Amino acid sequence: MFENLKAQPADKILALVQAYREDPRDTKIDLGVGVYKNADGVTPVMRAVKAAEKIVWEEQESKAYVSLTGDPAYSDAMIKLILGDAVARENVGAAATPGGTGACRQAFELIQMASPEARVFVSNPTWPNHISILNYLGIEVAPYRYFDSETRGVDFDGMIADLGQANAGDVVLLHGCCHNPTGANLNLIQWQAVIDLINEKNLVAMIDIAYQGFGDGLDEDAQATRLVASSVKECLIAASCSKNFGVYRERTGLLMAVSNDASQTALNQATLSFLNRQNYSFPPDHGARVVTTILNNPELCADWKAELEETRLSMLALRQQLADELQRLSGSDRFGFLAQHRGMFSRLGTTPEMVEKLRADHGIYMVGDSRMNIAGLNAKSVPILAKAIIDSGI
Ligand code: LMR
Repeated sequence: MFENLKAQPADKILALVQAYREDPRDTKIDLGVGVYKNADGVTPVMRAVKAAEKIVWEEQESKAYVSLTGDPAYSDAMIKLILGDAVARENVGAAATPGGTGACRQAFELIQMASPEARVFVSNPTWPNHISILNYLGIEVAPYRYFDSETRGVDFDGMIADLGQANAGDVVLLHGCCHNPTGANLNLIQWQAVIDLINEKNLVAMIDIAYQGFGDGLDEDAQATRLVASSVKECLIAASCSKNFGVYRERTGLLMAVSNDASQTALNQATLSFLNRQNYSFPPDHGARVVTTILNNPELCADWKAELEETRLSMLALRQQLADELQRLSGSDRFGFLAQHRGMFSRLGTTPEMVEKLRADHGIYMVGDSRMNIAGLNAKSVPILAKAIIDSGI
């Protein structure tokens, strides 16, 4: 049997991690995988996470199974964090999942189960693993225009024109905030236009929200998701705690199935439960328990918010510093988009050959599509990157 296996394409983002590790140059800069790093290049355990882990360690009496959709208190706390008061709790089915990827995977399986003919419209570009999982499941992928390589902003007319080709029942996958990989985001007026189109054409909205709190603030980053959830007939929301709680390896995510008809919720919830059982049975609990402990403890929650806000502001400062430095070196405003983008990533908008040149000549690692993890920078490496970009003729 094993001899029938075919080598699968390596994940380009994760392959970079290895290549970076193997590079002996001490001047190398890692702008690859989406992991937050502080100015010392460390991905810290957040203060509130440490404190919550201590509480869990002291208070937890059992490691017996919880429930197929995880601890309901986790779902409640996360729904409140993401949806606020936009939707009544009784309209939301929710299941803990192994990270945001697990939530996406379960969402795609639910789509396939409920609507086998549906295509999933994804932004061009999107997080490559969206496409990889959809292909693996045999779900048809339909890209819609998103990134304008001239302005490095959103090609909104292109997006609307392409979504206009969707048929009733097709799914539109949107990034709730901090678009990965481009950093270019819709404004609320544009979100409303997308919602109108979804409703007009009877499409299904799916939101992937993996960076809440990394863009304009916790509530600000959830605004679009709340608007969608409260305006459409039904939607799926895949959320991740990996980044905003820094619990990457704990695999802490949530899938929500939101319906404007509360009588649908029991079936949605049962389906999420069934899907968890088929794929991995009980979802991981530790990260979810830590997150719940933080969100339900006013002191810890305030401290978590404060540290998250510091993180967000540090990334914004790096964006501004890079844009300023590039303006100084190039004598033009053509890199101003870096300060406009939000979240962990920006797409520089250069060729794979240039990306390779930056790696070979300067030890700068970014994803081949020129996605940079802004959090991989610090005040000292920004001028080095800016000079490398200009010296390379980008
Ligand atoms: C990324 O886009 O770099 C992150 O979401 C990590 C991953 O799993 O790809």
